[in-house]
Amino acid sequence: MAKTRTSKEPARGLVLVERAGSVAWLTLDRPEAANALSRAMVAALRMELAALAELPDVTAVVLTGAGGKAFSAGADLKERLDLTSDETRAFLDDLGALTQAIENFPAPVIAAISGAALGGVLELALAADIRLADESASLGLSEVRLGIIPGAGGTQRLSRLCGIAVAKELILTGRRLDAAAALRLGLVSQVVAKSELRPAVAAICAELAAGGPLALAQAKRAIDSGFGRPMPEALAAERACYEVVLGSADRDEGLRAFAEKRIPRFLGK
Ligand code: COA
Repeated sequence: MAKTRTSKEPARGLVLVERAGSVAWLTLDRPEAANALSRAMVAALRMELAALAELPDVTAVVLTGAGGKAFSAGADLKERLDLTSDETRAFLDDLGALTQAIENFPAPVIAAISGAALGGVLELALAADIRLADESASLGLSEVRLGIIPGAGGTQRLSRLCGIAVAKELILTGRRLDAAAALRLGLVSQVVAKSELRPAVAAICAELAAGGPLALAQAKRAIDSGFGRPMPEALAAERACYEVVLGSADRDEGLRAFAEKRIPRFLGK
């Protein structure tokens, strides 16, 4: 896999960016601290994601962690000790902006979860479009055990994903789930053997790459923007997204390719 920096400035080694064809892998690369989300790590992730969003040939982004032990232990609790309340608020703003950048990313974002995925990093994963785990995964929003609550959308996104009853039980207990339990609750969509995580993610990315880039972006937006709204509004949101693809060159190419019995060559416009 080619290792390239997509951004103009180095990310101080905290986030590794690798390209495998049209897929960009973003690896939290601070294994000595269980890939904890320091302020610098969050800034680096935001920077790299913003740079990738400018690249039209990126068909999927994968978020994962280095070291094989943890996706991430969540917020950097050692750094947090010395932060003022205002600095903590600023950190929450930055982490929240990162979750929104994931949610609004023009291509699908996949969280590839191996080992511990706790607190803030699970909030990032909840903002991703697809979550895959390996058998070593341990997932939890354990903030209440630190006397705080999830502060980057976790209370809202977990309820939307798994329902209010499940979200309350998991957030109020701060319980860590193993991969099988996470799969049962719909928190992840697939669990594979540890050695199979990368190939399984690559297989999904290959499927995603068969879709039109504009269609993927609008399908993602239609689902996210309609969810939880009254049905007439939700259907109007879907129609607005359909309008974008209706006038696109990709839509014409898709129909032409079908008629000519060939694979479409989408341009993302
Ligand atoms: N912030 C900062 N540093 C952290 C951290 C965090 N959230 N979690 C772990 N670390 C550090 C450890 O202190 C340790 O550093 P040290 O070697 O200087 O002592 C290093 O990362 C490795 O952690 P360790 O616990 O030895 O590794 P492990 O593989 O046995 O366990 C975890 C990994 C993630 C399961 C475990 O560290 C853990 O449970 N961390 C707390 C997670 C947490 O509560 N996060 C907040 C959620 S709201």
